[in-house]
Amino acid sequence: MKKEEKKDIFEKITSLAKRRGFIYPGSEIYGGLAGTWDYGPLGTELKRNIKNEFWKNMTQEHENIVGLDAAIIMNPKVWEASGHLDSFSDPLVECKKCHHRFRADQLEKNPPAGGCPDCGGEITEPKQFNLMVETYLGSIEGEKLKTYLRGEITQGVHVNFKNVLDSTRVKIPFGVVQVGKAFRNEITPGGLTFRSREFEQMELQFYAKPDKKESMKWMEYWKEERMKWYLSLGMTKKNLRFKEHEQLAHYAQAAFDIEYNAEGDWKEMEGIHHRGDWDVRRHQEFSKQDLTYFDEESKERFLPYIIETSGGVDRATLFFLMDAYTEEILNPKSEILNKPQNSNKENNEMEKRIVLKLHPKLAPYKAAVFPLLANKLELVKLARTIYEELRKEYTVAWDDRGNVGKRYRAQDEAGTPYCITVDFESLETEDVTVRDRDTMKQERVKIKELKNYIYEKYQKN
Ligand code: GAP
Repeated sequence: MKKEEKKDIFEKITSLAKRRGFIYPGSEIYGGLAGTWDYGPLGTELKRNIKNEFWKNMTQEHENIVGLDAAIIMNPKVWEASGHLDSFSDPLVECKKCHHRFRADQLEKNPPAGGCPDCGGEITEPKQFNLMVETYLGSIEGEKLKTYLRGEITQGVHVNFKNVLDSTRVKIPFGVVQVGKAFRNEITPGGLTFRSREFEQMELQFYAKPDKKESMKWMEYWKEERMKWYLSLGMTKKNLRFKEHEQLAHYAQAAFDIEYNAEGDWKEMEGIHHRGDWDVRRHQEFSKQDLTYFDEESKERFLPYIIETSGGVDRATLFFLMDAYTEEILNPKSEILNKPQNSNKENNEMEKRIVLKLHPKLAPYKAAVFPLLANKLELVKLARTIYEELRKEYTVAWDDRGNVGKRYRAQDEAGTPYCITVDFESLETEDVTVRDRDTMKQERVKIKELKNYIYEKYQKN
């Protein structure tokens, strides 16, 4: 695929995300802050739905998995023990002329002609650049404690290994899930939220017996489970693949990524790592606490092996948006003609529709309710009753501006699966028109059946 086309999808998503309130540049009115993003009303709902689905899948649909919510700021010894202060770094090169810095691995992939990609100047040898974000606690100058904003959410789980064992009934094999913010001083943030300096992770730390064969079996199990999860929420199968790591992180014994195909450019979305007993062993060593597990069956004490699934919530949000993004050409009867190769309107009567075909479970709004005309009180009244009733169960949008066609287009771009219109007939027959986002087909549904109708569609999908 050509480079312009690759850029295109990021540009389209950036524009839609801003226009409809999914994602805004962070601190925009002050000129922004590189590598930070703010989620708007629709983006917040989408991201929350992704996190809720992750949480539900892990804790409700799997046995022996419990949740945790650890502090972002931890004792700095945690990061010594975890190896992040020594090894959590990217090799950087600097231009001797303009002093711009670049990741050495990226320059290796796309070597610029001459030297610096910005000015052609001479490039230095690579130097290691630590990614941990420093912060200081305390209010008295000179007595402040230097610590870090967590570079991964992982360590909050491992330092609580003993607490979880002592306060719950879990037995190995078991897992702990967590969702939360992580921070990295990324050298080259970019690709919308793809590489941010503040981002969210959703992780499982799964503790298994320290046995190579048994732990690899779990690794395979979790690889498949995570792939199934993305597919169950509607991601296109051909856009997902596993990629084995060639270079392993300081803690890893084996590692795979789930990658997403962003129009020809495969990008990491989630990592599945075999961490050996690295974390628990290091925390035992540095804290001088006994973190061994006592196995009732074998009467043995051991440090468990850890299988981790580590997904980026922002990357998942971005790739769910990309995967759902569809452009269609409609004829004057609003029938879908084809995919948009000829989107420059050759024929003035053709219309381009942008629609986010998000899975209903992820869609920010499950339905939208419209009165056909905003100035007909009886229509507005009935539509408001339906809206209030549905809102008890679902996130529902209300729209009475412009004509119904415009409202459909707005809801298509928001990814709302069902639009419900109350018209004059509704007053007589107690039914409404429900329009399906993807097929644009309309059908009449009894008002009292609406809740069930949406639920049925929602569950079946
Ligand atoms: N605990 C393991 C760990 O943090 P990682 O591969 O460094 O592993 C896991 O990160 C996931 O976190 C990545 O697959 C990605 O989805 C997300 N992630 C990492 N760095 C990110 C960044 N700068 N911006 C957005 N997401 C990021």
